[in-house]
Amino acid sequence: MGPARTPRRILLVGGGGREHALAVRLAGEPGVVSIVAFPGSDGIASVPGVSIVAGDPLDPAAVVAAAITTRVDLAVIGPEASLAAGVADALVAAGIPTFGPTAAAARIESSKAFCHAVADAAGVRMARSGAFAALGAAAAFAAALDADGRGIVVKADGLAAGKGVTVCDTLDEATAALDAIFRDAGRETPGVPRVVVEERLRGPEASVIVLADETAAIALPAARDHKRLGDGDTGPNTGGMGAYSPLPDLPDANVAGIVASFHVPILAELARLGAPFRGALYAGLILTADGPALLECNARFGDPESQVILPRCAAPLAPLLLAAAEGRLAAAAAEAGFAGRLLPSTPEAAVGIVLAAAGYPAAPRSGAAITGLAEADAQGGLVFHAGTARDAGGTWRVRGGRVLTVVGLGADLAAARVAAERAVDGIDFDGLQRRHDIAAAAPALRGVVPVTAGTPR
Ligand code: AMP
Ligand code: GLY
Repeated sequence: MGPARTPRRILLVGGGGREHALAVRLAGEPGVVSIVAFPGSDGIASVPGVSIVAGDPLDPAAVVAAAITTRVDLAVIGPEASLAAGVADALVAAGIPTFGPTAAAARIESSKAFCHAVADAAGVRMARSGAFAALGAAAAFAAALDADGRGIVVKADGLAAGKGVTVCDTLDEATAALDAIFRDAGRETPGVPRVVVEERLRGPEASVIVLADETAAIALPAARDHKRLGDGDTGPNTGGMGAYSPLPDLPDANVAGIVASFHVPILAELARLGAPFRGALYAGLILTADGPALLECNARFGDPESQVILPRCAAPLAPLLLAAAEGRLAAAAAEAGFAGRLLPSTPEAAVGIVLAAAGYPAAPRSGAAITGLAEADAQGGLVFHAGTARDAGGTWRVRGGRVLTVVGLGADLAAARVAAERAVDGIDFDGLQRRHDIAAAAPALRGVVPVTAGTPR
């Protein structure tokens, strides 16, 4: 029962690309005997050491039943919707060590208004913002930002898989986005925030994810997501169209400062509110000319960030996930021999390209046959499945918005990019959408943005 205890059997809740990457990673670690994915996917089922159990990942009782039947030592929850549905609460109540926060702590992601309130109380820098229950007040705040010469971002409150956010170029666009949110959401409910309106900040973004409990926060390698659908950051926001790690403009030496000034105060404030957080806390940062600011918190690993981060982690994760679940992460990290707030990483770079379905993000179309997966494998690409399924005849088909993430590894980002492009090139399906510029701008970012540990306001 020392701090470095490894869970032998792990229940992995979810079935997307992030969970595929987690399954590959955890199943390959020493001491891990089996992974049970709930409900997993056909792609996840093909990972050696992984079995799948069918069921609804949003039904806490069903997840607990699967955990008990399969006698797992640890549950790891992937998707935000499961967290918000109280799956972690139910697992914890059943006595199962759980990596993934309770619904109360996961509100840091599921409510943008709550995230702003926590960040304010914790002294963490975010964009200037207001949370509004009524259209009139929201529109007035947007107009005031515009009059001040500020850009505007409109965010629906609540989970929207990264698609509830409109980054506006004009006040008219902001007004239209607000109208749409209040129309979709029906009547206004006094006192219940519907929307957050924010000042638009400028700069490259960074995703810094920590493994956390009440005792410690250990950062995984930093990554950068590409949120917009089109090349050159054009088109609508998506769940993420590609990612890379490491970041030339956010070296490891700066990540510890980020953790100290963003994650640690937020974790402390959540604990103070009676909602201690055990799981992956993801800070979506923007590196402005005045220093970093927090755009959002997620209560889980990123997708597609996990697909590029996990292959770069140079220490076993399973014992740390179990330790965080049991509230003894600080001791486990010390035992594992890494001091400070950083997990050791490999010197390799990783670039991941998302292949999305026709119609994504507004109305993805399912059904197209996918070809070239074996060729991508043969090229040395890591192929992670998200929205796919294998039909009765064995053909892989599109079944979701983001279909695949294909990751290339290399000695540096340029080499990793070449590897990813080479692996992706052979894959095809009807209506395939992808970006061609993932990580392309990375080298030019080196040193151009000040990355200070402080949080100027
Ligand atoms: P969120 O879900 O809040 O992270 O927003 C999704 C994406 O919208 C972010 O990754 C950014 O690309 C963009 N975004 C959100 N808030 C802002 C902001 N205040 N300024 C500029 N871009 C933003
Ligand atoms: N890639 C952004 C997210 O996981 O929310």
